[in-house]
Amino acid sequence: MKALVIYDSQYGNTEKIAKAIGKGFTGDVKVKKVGDVKPEDIAWAKTVIIGSPTQGGRQTAAIKAFSAGLKADSFTGKRLAAFDTRIKGWAKIFGFAAPKIEASFKDKGGNFTAQPQGFIVKSAKGPLVEGEEDRATTWAKAIAAGVPTSQMQGDYSQKTRE
Ligand SMILES: Cc1cc2nc3c(=O)[nH]c(=O)nc-3n(C[C@H](O)[C@H](O)[C@H](O)COP(=O)(O)O)c2cc1C
Repeated sequence: MKALVIYDSQYGNTEKIAKAIGKGFTGDVKVKKVGDVKPEDIAWAKTVIIGSPTQGGRQTAAIKAFSAGLKADSFTGKRLAAFDTRIKGWAKIFGFAAPKIEASFKDKGGNFTAQPQGFIVKSAKGPLVEGEEDRATTWAKAIAAGVPTSQMQGDYSQKTRE
């Protein structure tokens, strides 16, 4: 499976989750920071997973600029999923990055096959809560296998949506 994981990260936690997601896919996987993604990477990928730290209740400016710069049909025929990292509690007040990433990519032709997912950090600089990297790998495996994430065990449900 040709999977591309695109992420932004200020303190490294979202990068760790992106790499853990990459481990969930077998076959060809690329894990790239948003500024390093080339148009040929997107053309190559069959599955694209996009993630960002939640900052001010949304994705980072770099992720926003990336989605704004894509052509309308960039993701046609590809499976997509969005994730973020966040601090538990804050997200309830300001919202989450992942649903906003999903919204910003919906008009690019892709098909979101998984619920947007949040992974938890203990404070702004991290570290991640124990087990979150494993949970990310499990989430990716389910996406790779085509399992609807609403049917997965754990916190993969509507709970993490706005
Ligand atoms: C400027 C700023 C704003 C933030 N706003 C939020 C927020 O609205 N909600 C939230 O849950 N976490 C918020 N956080 C915490 C980030 O989600 C946390 O720093 C991030 O998950 C760490 O990921 P990273 O190591 O990849 O940068 C904020 C952090 C920063 C630095």
